[in-house]
Amino acid sequence: MITYHEQERIFKLDTPNTSYLIGIVDEENFIGHIYYGKRLKDADASYLLRTEEPPFVPGKNNRERCSFYDCFPFEYPAGGIGDCREGCLGIRTAGGHTGAMLSYVSHEILEGKPELTGLPATFGTKKECTTLKLLCEDKYAGMQVELLYTVFQDTDAMTRSVKVTNVGREHFYLTKVFSASLDMDNRDFDMISLHGSWARERHIQRKTLGYGIQNVSSVRGESSHQDHPFLALVEKNTTQDSGEVYAMNFVYSGNFRAQAEVTQFDYVRMSMGIHPENFCWKLEAGESFQAPEVVMLYTDKGLDAMTNAFHTLYRKHLIRGEYRNKKRPILINNWEATYFDFDTEKLLSIAKEASKLGIEMLVMDDGWFGKRNNDDCALGDWQVNEEKLKGGLKYLVDEVNRLGMKFGIWFEPEMISPDSNLYREHPDWALAIPGRPAAQARQQFVLDLSRKEVVDHVYEMVASVLRSANIEYVKWDMNRPLADIGSIALPADRQGEICHRYMLAVYEMQSRLVKEFPHLLLENCSGGGARFDPGMLYYSPQIWCSDDADAIERLEIQEGTALLYPLSTMGAHVSDCPNHVVGRVTPFETRGIVALAGTFGYELDVTRIPEEDRNMIPEQVALYHQYNDLIREGDYYRIASYSQNHKFDCWQVVSENKEESLVTFVQVLCRANFKSRRLLLKGLAEDKRYEVRFVNDKEIQTKVYSGDTLMKAGLLIPSFQGDFQARLIHLVKCEEKF
Ligand code: GLA
Repeated sequence: MITYHEQERIFKLDTPNTSYLIGIVDEENFIGHIYYGKRLKDADASYLLRTEEPPFVPGKNNRERCSFYDCFPFEYPAGGIGDCREGCLGIRTAGGHTGAMLSYVSHEILEGKPELTGLPATFGTKKECTTLKLLCEDKYAGMQVELLYTVFQDTDAMTRSVKVTNVGREHFYLTKVFSASLDMDNRDFDMISLHGSWARERHIQRKTLGYGIQNVSSVRGESSHQDHPFLALVEKNTTQDSGEVYAMNFVYSGNFRAQAEVTQFDYVRMSMGIHPENFCWKLEAGESFQAPEVVMLYTDKGLDAMTNAFHTLYRKHLIRGEYRNKKRPILINNWEATYFDFDTEKLLSIAKEASKLGIEMLVMDDGWFGKRNNDDCALGDWQVNEEKLKGGLKYLVDEVNRLGMKFGIWFEPEMISPDSNLYREHPDWALAIPGRPAAQARQQFVLDLSRKEVVDHVYEMVASVLRSANIEYVKWDMNRPLADIGSIALPADRQGEICHRYMLAVYEMQSRLVKEFPHLLLENCSGGGARFDPGMLYYSPQIWCSDDADAIERLEIQEGTALLYPLSTMGAHVSDCPNHVVGRVTPFETRGIVALAGTFGYELDVTRIPEEDRNMIPEQVALYHQYNDLIREGDYYRIASYSQNHKFDCWQVVSENKEESLVTFVQVLCRANFKSRRLLLKGLAEDKRYEVRFVNDKEIQTKVYSGDTLMKAGLLIPSFQGDFQARLIHLVKCEEKF
């Protein structure tokens, strides 16, 4: 609900458990951020703006205008005029001047949520959400700024975005445009972010927030393996179950910066948006720039509550398409099975064996096109290599379909190999700075997607392959960061637009793809999980989490990913052993149990693995079918974290009606001479009784306990021998007495 309190000039935005207050002050209509926190009954907290203290407001004390600018909690700080904290908006006028200051002009409160042109964004019906459109201006710069806020009925997560319009007569340049800012008092916060690298994405990092600016960012043209477009400020005593959390997550897949600045007065400014490095957007008179959306969340109930608010928002208001609430086909991908060394016969032999075991889809990965027999060449030549695929693609797909399986395929549409027909024909289609040889990564360049003819050509190549056979799944990969940011198609003063134009083009292509092929299951991927972000989730309901599918490495990766994203989105497979990245050997059973917490599938040569592993597949398939609805749709709780205790990991999902739950326990290292482990479960109904069954340990007797007991006294996991062992524990509501 959003209300405007006219007399007090206060906007009050309420989610089920939080309130967000914005106030207009002084005759110059400065827009201040009053409050974000637990839900308030009234809108009478404007004293938090501290305008009754020196330096007051310019209307009362103009001689200290600069001091006012430097301490007032601005709702959307522009900067460059006197607020010396870092602002959200940077402009350079045609005359070369910088600095801006916004004041309130008007507002609208709308039912529902407007779309953000060209960008992924959350959505909701008129009944589900309400939006505040705040129009502000800088009349000296000829600039209007529209701040958009949406609150939803079914989650505490809310969204913000910003649109800048040139209402003057001359052009100006936007040198920076963040999408959200939050000024508040510091509370001795810690900062949580997700850090990583290739094959170890999204590890949770928590550290003390000190004075000055601390940020996480990407200038790689992708949201990246290294940092993640997410930031949370939490109180020192915040745990999974209690304590205050302020979080931001960016619905964008390109360059970003997320930061917190602790100021001289112990205020914090938390902000997020497109990274200003390499960004400069020219706005001609009358033109607008739409910045992407930030999701914001406040809770006083700890990190599990944050997680579930994000999960609800993404499941109900971001992910689209046929598969969003559906079980995904269990796939087998040939990458780690064959790498580039495959042909029709090999793929069909894998498919034949897989279909007997209950696997439902064959995905043909990299290497099926041009003369791509290694990763040195052929990106851009999206024509089937008929030497490998004898009889053509349609023949292979039909044969796979005849086995009762679906067929999926890999593309890396945004790239071009120097050794490709496409590059030989169009050397200027790769991003490059004229006069400087562009740097290769994995021996490839990035296509200049700021050019429409390039985008159209690439789309057509991908789409014509999809039109040629019954292809029901696409893995859309992107295997190198952007560098050499230059386009021969743009004038000098628009070169700073390339990275964002590139992202808009990727979004546009994926949008076209899911429109033309509405039944297609799209899985995004970027060298594993370098583009696992809410922007991509708008187009694909699942994203490949990491190239590291080792069950133990995955514990930390999946914990960090699930901190924000529903389990239904996490691409997770059972892969071969010794693991191709870390060389670790783990039991097949454990690999299966860890992959069950994601989309589930296989990435190995099913014809060559040990027979006892192969024999386990039908059982794993059955587990997937039995529990996937619960895993996909259930609330998610962290019970213990291997990344913190270095011994074991445990998470739990609970159905919305609290009648069913699944606990996953992974014993990474066995401890000698140790008793059973006591784990406090979460999310159950106190007054319900649950039958507790150890699914893969038949020796443990099934027993009945109340939810109250399981949450307060806990569940004992009997001690057992062996490293890398996993237990699945299923709880079902029952009527039985104790
Ligand atoms: C990336 C992906 C892998 C695989 C290879 C193919 O690394 O993450 O899963 O598709 O590309 O080249």
